[in-house]
Amino acid sequence: MQIVIVPTPAEVGAVAAAKIAKVVRTKADAVLGVATGSSPLAIYAELEHRKSAGELDFTAVRAFALDEYVGIDYAHEQSYHSVIRREVTDRLGLNPALVHVPDGAAADIARACADYEQLIAEAGGVDIQILGIGTNGHIGFNEPTSSFASRTRIKTLAPRTREDNARFFDGDLAQVPTHCLTQGLGTILAARRLVLVATGAAKADAVAAMVEGPLSSMCPGSALQLHPDATVVIDEDAAARLT
Ligand code: F6R
Repeated sequence: MQIVIVPTPAEVGAVAAAKIAKVVRTKADAVLGVATGSSPLAIYAELEHRKSAGELDFTAVRAFALDEYVGIDYAHEQSYHSVIRREVTDRLGLNPALVHVPDGAAADIARACADYEQLIAEAGGVDIQILGIGTNGHIGFNEPTSSFASRTRIKTLAPRTREDNARFFDGDLAQVPTHCLTQGLGTILAARRLVLVATGAAKADAVAAMVEGPLSSMCPGSALQLHPDATVVIDEDAAARLT
C-alpha cells in the first residue's frame, strides 16, 4: 500500500486525479470504478478541469458505481443514480449508456447483484477503482464484519453510516435509507488499481486502522493491505493518527 500525505484536500484530489488521468490516457475505453460522497468530489473537479482543457476524453470510458441505496427512488436527488449522473457522467462527459449503478430498486435483488458482477466481468474488470472510507472504516458500503470475499449484495447500513450521511438528507436521520446494494470487498479487491482518498480529522481513526491496524473485518478498509496496487491519498488531518 502506498501512502501519499499532502497538505490540503484540493491536493488530495489532484494527486488521485493524476493517477486516473494516466489510466484514461493510455486506455480510451478504461473501466473506472466510481464512488459517491464528499471525498471524491475534488477528484471529479480536477478531472473535469483536465477534460475542459482538452487533456482528457471520457467519451469511451466505462464506469461502475460502488453502491446504491435501497428504498429511495432513482429520481431522488440523493440516489446514487442521481449523484453519479450529476457529479460524474455530466461533468466528465461520459456516455450515460456506459455508466452503471447497482439497481437498488430491483424486484429481484439477488439477481440484480449477480447481474452487476456479470457486467463488470464482461467489461474486463475495473482498471482503477476510486474509494472513500467511512468513519467506521467501511469502503463501498461494506460495513464492519463484512467478509473479505464478499461480492455485490444487499447490506444493512450501520447506524454510524446513517448518521454520517444524514447531512445529505437535510440532517434528517429518518430520511436516510436503512439498506443498500454494494460491491463486495472481493469485488473491490479484484480491481487492477485502487486509489482511496480521505480528508479531515474525522477520518483519522479509520485511516490509521486501515493502514496500520490488523487485517480485520472490523475495519473493512484494511482489506486494501491485501491489494498489490493500492494507493491511499490523504491530507495531514486524516493522517494525524498514523504512527
Ligand atoms: C460512496 C461510498 C462510501 C463513501 C464513504 C465516505 O460510494 O461507497 O464508502 O466513500 O462513506 O463518504 P464521504 O466521502 O462522504 O465521507
